[in-house]
Amino acid sequence: MSDDHGTIESLSALAHDAGESYPPSPEFRAQANQNSSEIYLRAAADPEAYWAEQAQNRLTWKKPFTEVLDWTNPPFAKWFADGELNVAENCLDRHVANGHGDRVAIHFEGEPGDTRTITYAELTHEVKRAANMLASLGVTAGDRVAIYMPMIPETVIAMLAVVRLGAAHSVVFGGFSAESLRARIDDVEAELVITADGGYRKGRVSPLKPVVDQALELDDADGKPGTVKHVLVVNRGGNEVNMVDGRDLWWHEEITAYDGEHTAQGFPAENPLFILYTSGTTGKPKGILHTTGGYLTQVTTTFSDVFDIKPESDVFWCTADVGWVTGHSYIVYGPLSNGATQVMYEGTPDTPDWGRWWQLIEKYKVSIFYTAPTAIRSCMKVGRQVPEQYDLSSLRLLGSVGEPINPEAWRWYRDVIGAAKAPIVDTWWQTETGAMMVAPLPGLTSLKPGSSQIAQPGISIAVVDDDGNPVENGQGGLLVVERPWPSMVRNVWGDPQRFIDTYWDKFGDKYFAGDGARLDEDGDIWFLGRVDDVMNVSGHRLSTTEIESALVGHHAVAEAAVVGADDETTGQAVVAFVILKSQQHLITEAEAEQELRSHVASHIGAIARPRNVYVVNELPKTRSGKIMRRLLKDAAEGRKIGDTTTLADTMVMQLISDRVVAEREAK
Ligand code: WT7
Repeated sequence: MSDDHGTIESLSALAHDAGESYPPSPEFRAQANQNSSEIYLRAAADPEAYWAEQAQNRLTWKKPFTEVLDWTNPPFAKWFADGELNVAENCLDRHVANGHGDRVAIHFEGEPGDTRTITYAELTHEVKRAANMLASLGVTAGDRVAIYMPMIPETVIAMLAVVRLGAAHSVVFGGFSAESLRARIDDVEAELVITADGGYRKGRVSPLKPVVDQALELDDADGKPGTVKHVLVVNRGGNEVNMVDGRDLWWHEEITAYDGEHTAQGFPAENPLFILYTSGTTGKPKGILHTTGGYLTQVTTTFSDVFDIKPESDVFWCTADVGWVTGHSYIVYGPLSNGATQVMYEGTPDTPDWGRWWQLIEKYKVSIFYTAPTAIRSCMKVGRQVPEQYDLSSLRLLGSVGEPINPEAWRWYRDVIGAAKAPIVDTWWQTETGAMMVAPLPGLTSLKPGSSQIAQPGISIAVVDDDGNPVENGQGGLLVVERPWPSMVRNVWGDPQRFIDTYWDKFGDKYFAGDGARLDEDGDIWFLGRVDDVMNVSGHRLSTTEIESALVGHHAVAEAAVVGADDETTGQAVVAFVILKSQQHLITEAEAEQELRSHVASHIGAIARPRNVYVVNELPKTRSGKIMRRLLKDAAEGRKIGDTTTLADTMVMQLISDRVVAEREAK
């Protein structure tokens, strides 16, 4: 945490109106999966027993577990360690065996309008074939496979085929650059990359395979040779693709050699399931490691209870990309483990126009819809007349994730999309928590616009001050998880010390989430954003340090400071302040903004592209040389500059702020 944030004071200053509240309707409550508050008491009385019961009742084990939690070596937890299961069998075969083979697993809708309907029997068959194909390419238990794919059914098939073999996947979001992809491939030492020629985005095929080629051509890091032996390519867009002889294989050609006979083997519950990278406070993303038994238990439970899913009748749709944890937990594992039916959509919400999502809800009669506040705010901007043209009456529950949802967006979501009756579940969790941690149970909780409200049954959450003491209701502080939970991050891949330092150093055996939160008078939780150097742009986590390193990697940049500034649509936006190298005239100031914006996009990925780049002569620093980002944030948000007394040179901020104002007025 940087020293210039003044976190707790500034968070406590944010007050919310806790007066408005929406209890569940009697009809909703009567049919809800959880409608007795006794569940909270029972789970709190014995959380391990509660989770053991979920694991037993909701999952199929090849070998039953006898141990629940092993916390003898904190912070390295083990859940259900002597049990064995196969995650793919839990998501597929068992539903077919239970007579649900004909139920639709995925209604796929491509951006151009092509569709595929895939039943559980068909998905099971395809995953078995793919598992056979991967096995003959040498994938075995304990391996890691990198996946760099668009939002198409083969992505889900590939993930499940990998885990069926007891291997782990590392999915890299398709918007990441070649450099980011390569760093992730190297870190997990993947020998196989699964990709596609490209995927549809905004009406054209956005290339993926060329990025893989570029990634694999980059110089080996640290003199270590690259690990990749094969690249398996799905043909999605019919794009011209360069295939490297002996290395690259077409999925559709290879798969023809394999049938759908494959018996799932059980693997220990602490077998790695996936590694997913997320930004931290340093330049290098962290590989968050999740394992099988505990993860699947909590994902399966929360999917069912928070979304109130009835697998035989509901149609679920989560608009996230499978490349993020939301897609892992609530497109792949949660829905499929529950045997639910879902919509999977490839493209963007505005293609061909802003009616697309609502048209899909009408077409597939979506009943449970899960999206991010940034998307809701974009739709609000476009106007209610767009969704009002569609029949959204199938919707009975709405979910939100990724960042705090502002009460205006919450009310709009409920009124315009949810016909003023669908409950909204605001779900707080993280890549590291694997599954939802704080969220209402819609049959029980009286909802408050803007609050995630309470910990899930079996989860212990507290808001504490800097010394770890719980704050009183009405106060703000830092969010911690007090006890280990089944789907918790098990380690930072290859870097246990970083795992300890990042999450456990601050409060000992309590997990430090990096979020500020406030308890209202009723003890409900209101999230207030990150308290570290992590930004949240459109629900995606970005590290200020990582973007700063990309900027100083540009030949014309001497110094850079990045802040997350409030943004009406994206929540926060990346705003960069750079000092150009003097005398060299490598780049004019006028060119700098465009050039540096694309420089960051090509080094990290388009999601990290700064909204603004301001060229300045100096950065505000303390006498000890620390950049005071807090002041830059004030300037970027057009606020009066805060306390500058600790600055070495107090004039600097005046110049910067004049500069930002001048540029804003010029635009
Ligand atoms: C960070 C985790 C969990 C899936 C998507 C993001 C913020 C997430 C909420 C919410 C307030 C939220 C937090 C958290 N966040 N959901 N409902 N209310 N803040 O996963 O990339 O790991 O980011 O997103 O700041 O720490 P992620």
